[in-house]
Amino acid sequence: MKFTDSPVIDLKIRDKTLSLQQDNGSMHVGTSVWPCSLVLAKFVDRWAPPAAAATNNNPYSALLDFHGTRRRRGIELGAGCGAAGMAFHLLGLTDLVLTDIAPVMLALKHNLKRNKQTLGKMLKTSVLYWNNRDQIGALVAAGAPFDLVVAADVVYIEESVGHLVAAMEALVADDGAVLLGYQVRSPEADKLFWEMAREVFDIEKVPHGDLHPEYAYEETDVYIFRKKKT
Ligand SMILES: C[S@@+](CC[C@H](N)C(=O)[O-])C[C@H]1O[C@@H](n2cnc3c(N)ncnc32)[C@H](O)[C@@H]1O
Repeated sequence: MKFTDSPVIDLKIRDKTLSLQQDNGSMHVGTSVWPCSLVLAKFVDRWAPPAAAATNNNPYSALLDFHGTRRRRGIELGAGCGAAGMAFHLLGLTDLVLTDIAPVMLALKHNLKRNKQTLGKMLKTSVLYWNNRDQIGALVAAGAPFDLVVAADVVYIEESVGHLVAAMEALVADDGAVLLGYQVRSPEADKLFWEMAREVFDIEKVPHGDLHPEYAYEETDVYIFRKKKT
């Protein structure tokens, strides 16, 4: 893993700036920062209420109120370099674990350490493969199902779509939500993902006008999934 001379991306979240260093030469896609994570981070930056009371005219205040009396628990799937997860932490979702496959952990931890001072602490990480029921069970058992499951640019391999949707379903609380930064990367994976996701979740697409104006790329969307009521 070589970070020397790697491109660095700055991401401004409120009054702080995250600095993300990539290893674009690695064979793992997670060691690069992908636009979906920036779009998702800046969408939340735009709408997360800065304080519990500041909810007027904000359609996302209930979803993104990280300063209310109830402490909320979050998890990021396929965190990569951790851009989205770190942004959520800065915006108040402090009970948060960032997950990815083992080979990406070095890049994730490198970036968490790089931003430790800005974040105020080293954030929690965990190795999580979406097809590993033991890992999923251990994460849920360590607390309660998660109020928020965060994921950005994770739909690109058709074979892993079923595991991804199952992991989202297992991890998210019945009254929780999945927040997904999305871009079509494989037509086959895209088709299967939406077929499977629609069976489990009610799906809301964030209008493009609600994305952050400087991070509203035409090909990138943010979706909110909530478990279907049975
Ligand atoms: C395109 S990258 C996106 C990384 C980051 N979310 C971003 O937007 O910058 C996809 C991420 O999903 C992870 N991933 C892919 N398949 C996975 C699986 N089966 N289990 C866990 N993570 C997986 C990859 O390791 C990678 O970090």
